[in-house]
Amino acid sequence: MKTFLKSIQDRRSIYAISNASPISDARIEKLIGEAVKNVPSAFNMQDQKAVLLFGQDHDKLWSIVLETLRKIVPSASFAKTEAKIKSFAAGHGTVLFFSDNAVVEGMAKEFPLYAEKFREWAPHGAGMLQFAVWNLLESEGLGASLQHYNPLITEEVKKTWNLPADWKLIAQMPFGAPTALPEEKEYEPLEKRFHVFGK
Ligand SMILES: Cc1cc2nc3c(=O)[nH]c(=O)nc-3n(C[C@H](O)[C@H](O)[C@H](O)COP(=O)(O)O)c2cc1C
Repeated sequence: MKTFLKSIQDRRSIYAISNASPISDARIEKLIGEAVKNVPSAFNMQDQKAVLLFGQDHDKLWSIVLETLRKIVPSASFAKTEAKIKSFAAGHGTVLFFSDNAVVEGMAKEFPLYAEKFREWAPHGAGMLQFAVWNLLESEGLGASLQHYNPLITEEVKKTWNLPADWKLIAQMPFGAPTALPEEKEYEPLEKRFHVFGK
């Protein structure tokens, strides 16, 4: 496995993915489970939830996205939309990220002084989990990207996989074996974004 630093340096949004995987599904499940278990949350509230979809369930997700978009995207531009959704469907699997609103609101009720803070911190914890999963997949040779078809698909997703009503869908991460390199990325000068004092 790569070092954490190397994985941070190498992680990119990978849109060209295939159904292949350099590691087993059991290994993918283990990696994502470890991330869900160990990634921190405010007050250790553990509102972050994830669902891992393989095979027909992965296909089903992207067909939900496609059929949802078909209803709202003008038909003249639908071919482009369809090609994009099919590129995600071409992958090996998808991770769905949620925040359990029952947990967040439970904490807000229990600690009224911080009520607004829990609602503010929940997306921070969600981002930490997404970043951990993205890097873990990258470090084992999988390419992934981060998509947001919520809230359009949220109700259909919860109905399809019988998920609790309080789970708020936050992001979808399709992944698979990379089939093309990403384009060069531009970086803002680090000195504009990072300051060090006291050395
Ligand atoms: C919070 C967040 C939301 C993002 N949403 C999307 C998205 O909806 N669709 C998408 O294709 N990429 C999305 N991205 C990916 C960014 O566009 C991408 O990370 C950024 O351009 C840097 O490129 P890189 O991931 O290749 O390093 C998102 C990234 C972050 C951190």
